[in-house]
Amino acid sequence: MILENYIRDIQDFPKKGITFKDITPLLGNPVAVKECLSMLVKGLEGRPVDKVVGIESRGFFFATLLARELNAGFVPVRKPGKLPFATLSSAYELEYGTDTLEIHTDAIRAGEKVLIHDDVLATGGTASAVCSLVEKLGGEIVECSFIMELSFDTIPKSV
Ligand code: PRP
Ligand code: MG
Repeated sequence: MILENYIRDIQDFPKKGITFKDITPLLGNPVAVKECLSMLVKGLEGRPVDKVVGIESRGFFFATLLARELNAGFVPVRKPGKLPFATLSSAYELEYGTDTLEIHTDAIRAGEKVLIHDDVLATGGTASAVCSLVEKLGGEIVECSFIMELSFDTIPKSV
């Protein structure tokens, strides 16, 4: 099964000049979801995971499935002001300006083995902000996993 066939390019979304990678055809097909999940799990090569961190919003889809599959807890990293308990924040660079992501301070205990998951790796700004949150809480990052990585020349118009 070629998973790429279930990811469609939407031109000029959300604005002109951007090509959006739409994974909803993949999400809507249980065979493709199962295959994608199994590839993500295979990438771990049996290493144990205590917590799966999913990045709002598109990272949530597979992060919760991964947590269930790995018998691990799920931890949401969210955009500012969404988490109700005490949070730790990390700012990261966007093409223009900065953005912030937050995690609950009690979401990860020191020494826990953590898998960070998001749908897309583009510049890596989002993932590296999340790595720093996990490390500040004392988590041990096992792996950062993604469904797709955008090549350098597609980054400016594909995120
Ligand atoms: C997109 C994508 C990744 C991130 C990748 O999320 O889902 O999270 O950008 O880009 P980077 O590697 O350059 O940081 P977006 O911020 O558009 O939010 P969304 O998931 O809520 O759609
Ligand atoms: Mg995202």
